[in-house]
Amino acid sequence: MARTRAAVLISGRGSNMVALIDAAKAAGYPAEIAIVISNDPQAKGLEHAKAEGIQTAVVDHKPFGKNREAFERALQAELQKHNIEIVVLAGFMRLLTAWFVSQWDGRMINIHPALLPAFKGLDTHARAIAAGVTTHGATVHFVVPEMDSGPIIVQGAVPVVTGDTEATLAARVLEIEHKIYPMALKLFAEGRIRIENGICVIDGVSRPQGLQISGG
Ligand code: GRF
Repeated sequence: MARTRAAVLISGRGSNMVALIDAAKAAGYPAEIAIVISNDPQAKGLEHAKAEGIQTAVVDHKPFGKNREAFERALQAELQKHNIEIVVLAGFMRLLTAWFVSQWDGRMINIHPALLPAFKGLDTHARAIAAGVTTHGATVHFVVPEMDSGPIIVQGAVPVVTGDTEATLAARVLEIEHKIYPMALKLFAEGRIRIENGICVIDGVSRPQGLQISGG
């Protein structure tokens, strides 16, 4: 069967992108990384993708200035050119307009380094430590216009341990990110997820918090 054509959008080092590329190498993985697109020509991940023989493109947001929609139209054109079926945001540091999100309704996913709905936004690890939570993690979810919201596909939980710093906790969370993102893309590509009233139904079972994985 034809594999689902995924575009991975990055802005930086791209460790989740690497995890997705590696997963897609396995025989029987139902998606292929058809292209990696960065809004930053300097993004480290681009080199890695090229070295893996993956097609890359840069859609630099800077020439568009404040015209977010014009940038997104350029991005959209690139995605269409490559017959993309799902957009996978992996450390893509641009806020997306409702127009762009609506183009990819139910076909764009993101990974957030916290157990949503806790700790939306930035600096999630520092805030988790400051809040004194004992469990933290990451969430893969469908993208909706509201940031860090949207139907949850998978959550990976890790413990927060005594003496954790932002760096040690981030490393532990990243490890589980690299497991749950390929898992979520696989579920999508196998057609096992349906969205009903803003909740993922996976293999016929309603999962308000997504599939729950633990690690660390
Ligand atoms: C990850 O922590 C991810 O959860 C967040 O941005 C970071 C991207 O890291 N959305 P990488 O570029 O995939 O290494």
